[in-house]
Amino acid sequence: MRNENIINSIDVEYVYPSHFEKVDGTKALKGVSLDIKKGQFVVVIGRNGSGKSTYARLLNALLLPSKGVIYINGIDTKEENNLWEIRKTCGMVFQNPDNQIIGTTVEEDTAFGPENLGVEPSEIRRRVDASLDAVGMSEYKLHAPHLLSGGQKQRVSIAGILAMKPECLILDEATAMLDPGGRKEVLEVVHRLNREEKLTVIHITHHMEEARLADRVVVIDAGRIVLDGKPKEVFSNVEGIKAMGLDVPQVTELFYELRKAGLKLPEDVVDIDEAVAVFRRLYYGGANVNKD
Ligand SMILES: Nc1ncnc2c1ncn2[C@@H]1O[C@H](COP(=O)(O)OP(=O)(O)OP(=O)(O)O)[C@@H](O)[C@H]1O
Ligand SMILES: [Mg+2]
Repeated sequence: MRNENIINSIDVEYVYPSHFEKVDGTKALKGVSLDIKKGQFVVVIGRNGSGKSTYARLLNALLLPSKGVIYINGIDTKEENNLWEIRKTCGMVFQNPDNQIIGTTVEEDTAFGPENLGVEPSEIRRRVDASLDAVGMSEYKLHAPHLLSGGQKQRVSIAGILAMKPECLILDEATAMLDPGGRKEVLEVVHRLNREEKLTVIHITHHMEEARLADRVVVIDAGRIVLDGKPKEVFSNVEGIKAMGLDVPQVTELFYELRKAGLKLPEDVVDIDEAVAVFRRLYYGGANVNKD
């Protein structure tokens, strides 16, 4: 199955073994069908326990579907012989950078992935240099990773994944432990790799301000995909999003409240620049204003 999608998930269900045996057979995923195009930047949101991390682990073959099938570049994740091909194609970065550090220097840490893949040393050297350069961490290559800041550690984690030359980067709340500056640092790197290297990105986050920058936002609730579309489409459903215990970007919420208060605003917005443009038109009596 080779096509423009890097990921095809068909009716995927997952039951954790402990649930299956001891509890009630509760499915963490209840039939997820999702295709992701090469080069897409997808943000996945959903309340705690909705199944986001479970889905991410399935994409990396850390878990295998209980039912349904996932193809990564046409390869079924259940094909054991292709495990490394799958892990190489979809690289994962997790929430806590400290759990991902292995090496005693930044460059040693970055080399770990390609070493495991059996890449030859001169190529590893090239990849380590290029990856550290891509995340802006070259000057730290001889530093001890555990002494870096959180944002810098996460950039090193990303470099380690990039050194395996993945086609898809999965970030499972990789920005959750960072301050706004650290989050910005990491997101800028990832957005640039998406733009310039056509890296497919799947970014799981609880920060709605990060979601608005994606090509596509997928909302998971109780193991099912409940909304899927461009940020503006998804966040225009303010009440639906709130009913799932989630927030919308603040500026979207402001427009929602202003509308409720009776203001006729011409469009939905997800970022401040758009809001400024709308208010500018309103203030100067622009043509797009409805005044009934
Ligand atoms: N290792 C595990 N063993 C048993 N059940 C698990 C395990 N990991 C997750 N679950 C259960 O599976 C469901 C989905 O969990 P998952 O971690 O995928 O949610 P999530 O959307 O990533 O949540 P969060 O936003 O808190 O990270 C939850 O009901 C959770 O309790
Ligand atoms: Mg999670």
